[in-house]
Amino acid sequence: MSDPYIHGHHASVLRSHSWRTVENSCPHLLRYLNNPSLTILDVGCGPGTISVDLAARVPQGHVYAIDPSPEVIEKARKHAEERGVTNIHFEVGDIFRWEQHKGMHEAGFDIVHAHQVLQHLQDPVSALEVMKRLVRPGGILAVRDSTYSAMDWYPDVPGLHSWKALYLDVARGLKTDPDIGKRLHAVALQAGFARADIDASVAAWTFSTPEERAFWCGLWADRTLQSEYRRKAVEGGYANLEHLEGIAAAWRELEGAEEGWFAVIHGQVVCRVG
Ligand SMILES: C[S@@+](CC[C@H](N)C(=O)[O-])C[C@H]1O[C@@H](n2cnc3c(N)ncnc32)[C@H](O)[C@@H]1O
Repeated sequence: MSDPYIHGHHASVLRSHSWRTVENSCPHLLRYLNNPSLTILDVGCGPGTISVDLAARVPQGHVYAIDPSPEVIEKARKHAEERGVTNIHFEVGDIFRWEQHKGMHEAGFDIVHAHQVLQHLQDPVSALEVMKRLVRPGGILAVRDSTYSAMDWYPDVPGLHSWKALYLDVARGLKTDPDIGKRLHAVALQAGFARADIDASVAAWTFSTPEERAFWCGLWADRTLQSEYRRKAVEGGYANLEHLEGIAAAWRELEGAEEGWFAVIHGQVVCRVG
């Protein structure tokens, strides 16, 4: 059975994913994109903006990108078309069923990449083991995930503590780890990498200008009330509508605060495959 993806693919969720680029989401990968012929696998590609950006950086290479959601794969294909990027193939797929895909082979890629995916999997170690097998000797595996407990904001809008506590509860209730970003190196060790082959680092997104706050706080306010997350929170017995409305109002309060600031902390690892 597929993992129970907490957010679903409501417009408020895709608004966040579609903003993502190599520059704002893969700083740890930039130094490895030094060869235009690289082959890259993007696991859990969502609407594919990072995947297409990767493909544009390896014009003589190729990107293969998978996601279990047919709806987002459709959007991703359209995005590639609109950007005129052709060295990319999007496929509906699940990392645990990689053998069903003609385009995925053991030791088949120079780079295997996953952005904000491991936090949604119930068995991230097995996923990393699979991804490791798909990297050719001399290649790399790169993953990045946020750490929800470490997210912070200013001024101290009290309703956002309630947001954080609820998100952690719902994600843990799905048997996934919303704080996996801080232990990606440990997951990589469990998946069989030697410590010397793992580079662990941290990066952040900051939302501070009125435009940035409108984007980030607005999408979380909408997500709280409209997305699959709302259904999971209510049906799981973690929150009622009044609670969710309070959280959405807290996001709007941060958005409207002139000095408002929000930081999303990401753990990222690059693992070398020998
Ligand atoms: C937070 S989104 C990230 C999307 C994209 N990587 C990005 O950063 O814009 C996580 C994605 O992982 C996908 N996903 C969940 N379980 C998966 C699995 N078993 N194999 C591959 N992808 C999976 C979800 O469908 C979702 O689109």
